[in-house]
Amino acid sequence: MERFIQGLPKAELHLHIEGSLEPEMLFSLAERNGVQLPYASVEEVRQAYQFSNLQSFLDIYYQGAQVLLQEQDFYDLMMAYLRRCHDERVIHAEIFFDPQTHTERGVEFATVINGLQRAIVDAEAEWGMSAKLIMCFLRHLSAESAMATLEQALPFKDWILGVGLDSSELGHPPSKFIEVFARAKAEGWHRVAHAGEEGPPAYIYEALDLLQVERIDHGVRAMEDPLLMQRLAQTRMPLTVCPLSNVKLKVFERMEDHNLRDLLKQGVAVTLNADDPAYFGGYLNQNFIAAWQALNLTEEELVELARNSFLASFISDERKRSFIARLETYAQAAPAQ
Ligand code: ADE
Ligand code: ZN
Repeated sequence: MERFIQGLPKAELHLHIEGSLEPEMLFSLAERNGVQLPYASVEEVRQAYQFSNLQSFLDIYYQGAQVLLQEQDFYDLMMAYLRRCHDERVIHAEIFFDPQTHTERGVEFATVINGLQRAIVDAEAEWGMSAKLIMCFLRHLSAESAMATLEQALPFKDWILGVGLDSSELGHPPSKFIEVFARAKAEGWHRVAHAGEEGPPAYIYEALDLLQVERIDHGVRAMEDPLLMQRLAQTRMPLTVCPLSNVKLKVFERMEDHNLRDLLKQGVAVTLNADDPAYFGGYLNQNFIAAWQALNLTEEELVELARNSFLASFISDERKRSFIARLETYAQAAPAQ
C-alpha cells in the first residue's frame, strides 16, 4: 500500500511554503545571510520541534522564517519543495505564502514573490507539474494590515490564485476580515480560510457566510455541529485536512483518534495535506501513510482522497477531468493488493 500511495497522482492544497523550511536549509540560509540562530545544530532544532498547541508552533515557525531575506532564498525554498512534489507524484499544488511574515521584517513583497514565482516557472518547465500561489493574511495582525498587503499584491495579480487566512485562530474570527475578502473577491481571486482547527464551528460558519470561502482549511471541529456537517456534505465544501499537523499540534491526541475517516463517511469532501512538513514530520505521502495505517483506510478511500484533491482545486473542469483520468488509470493498473 505504501508503494500504491507513493505512485498515486495527487494535488496538494494546504502547504505553507515557510513550513517546508527544513532544518538543514535553515542553517545554510542563516549562514549565507549572517543571521544568528538560537540552536547549535540540526539535531537541536529537531528536538525543539515539540509543540503543545498551534501558538507554540507558530512562535518557532515565525522565528525560522527570519533567515529568508533575499529573492534567492525564496527561490531555493520553493525549488526544494517542488522537487519534493515531483518525487511524491504531487502533480498540482496550490501553495500558501505569508507575505506579512516577511514585509513586517522589512523584506519587500516583490522580493518574496519574485523568488517564489521564478522557482514555480522553472519547476513547471523541468518536471511538467503545475503550481500556483495563494497569499495568506496573518489573522493576529489587523484588518488594515491585511488590506495593505492585498494592495501590495495587485501588481502581481496574475501570479496569485487566491487569498487565505492563517496564524493564531482563537480570538481572531473570520469576521475581522470581511472587507479584505470582499475586495479579494472583487479582484477576481479565490478565497480560502483556516477555520475549525482550534477554533469553534462558529468560525467555520463565519468563513462560509461572511468571507464566502470556497474551501475550509482544516475544519475538523465541524464534527461538533451536526447541522454544519450536513451543510458541508450537501454543498461538497472541501476541507483540507492535515493529519500529521493535527497530531503534532494536539488537535487530536493520537492519529487513531483523528476524525478524517468519519468526515469522509458522512459525505464531506476531505482532502489530505501536509501543512508545514518540515515541522510536523512528513510531506504529503507521509500524511497518507500515517492516516492509512492508523485508520485502516481502504484503497478506495485513498483514491477518493486523491480524487477530492483534484475536485477541490482551482483548476479548470477540463484539467480536473484530465488529472482524474490519470488517477483512475493508475488505480486500475496498479491495485494495492
Ligand atoms: N500557519 C502555518 N501553519 C498553520 C496552521 N496549521 N494553522 C494556522 N496557521 C498556520
Ligand atoms: Zn495551515
